[in-house]
Amino acid sequence: MPQSKINRLKQHWKHLISLKLIFINNLRKEETVMVTIEICIGSSCFVKGSNEVVELLKNYIAEHHLEEKVQLKGAFCMGQCTKGLGIKVNGKILEGATLYNVVDLLEPELKELL
Ligand code: FES
Repeated sequence: MPQSKINRLKQHWKHLISLKLIFINNLRKEETVMVTIEICIGSSCFVKGSNEVVELLKNYIAEHHLEEKVQLKGAFCMGQCTKGLGIKVNGKILEGATLYNVVDLLEPELKELL
């Protein structure tokens, strides 16, 4: 077999192995995440400060070393526009959440789940 073909095969296998490693690492991360916090990025929630909530919760997660256990996700309107910010913790709506009370509402939920 010509050397150029052998080199191409080697590169192809290296690429496949690196893709497999990325896939396995992502699976491992998903396995360790215990809490998913969804934050609505709809226009009504944006006006009420959902982008600031994202920053607030990112800092909270970092300060409490919860990066491996808690993940943040953006979400579309949850039908909470007139009640507060649309925030879900493992699929459960955080009732009456605002920029100012979100951490107080979230902490008991996290204590129960972690
Ligand atoms: S826009 Fe956020 S809950 Fe409706």
